[in-house]
Amino acid sequence: MAGNRTFTMLKPDAVENGHIGAILAKINEAGFRIVAMKMTQLSRRDAGQFYAVHKERPFFGELVEYMTSGHIVAAILEKDNAVEDFRTLIGNTDPAKADEGTIRKMFATSIAANAVHGSDSDENAAIEGNFFFSGRERY
Ligand code: PPS
Repeated sequence: MAGNRTFTMLKPDAVENGHIGAILAKINEAGFRIVAMKMTQLSRRDAGQFYAVHKERPFFGELVEYMTSGHIVAAILEKDNAVEDFRTLIGNTDPAKADEGTIRKMFATSIAANAVHGSDSDENAAIEGNFFFSGRERY
């Protein structure tokens, strides 16, 4: 059975360009409930750990550099079939390939500065949510 929670980050481009409110509105309109949320800035160590699964990929250095370049908004979201439905809502990793109406099509500027992260599995959603939030910071 599909899980009902996913994890997201609004990335530095989305925060810097003033899109927090508009993106959260899209998330709410799509039926997701925000069960935890915070604004923070990742250290290089945090970003390296969060994205460790990608450490052999050619863009890893750029990804860490980018994700530490400004503030991000981290959140846990709740909805039936959350992981899959959220990835549909955000669209393709590359905004040039994302469908009309998706968050990345509307707000992302490049494959690196692609506005939002969405967990790719129920297991990773739980790991990523636990990386950012203690039990006291969510409901
Ligand atoms: S995914 O979501 O795992 O299927 O996407 P993937 O293409 O594997 O990319 C994994 C994360 O790396 C980011 N990415 C990049 N960052 C910088 N430069 C380049 N060229 C690049 N290509 C991919 C991508 O935005 C994914 O970040 P997250 O936060 O997981 O969405």
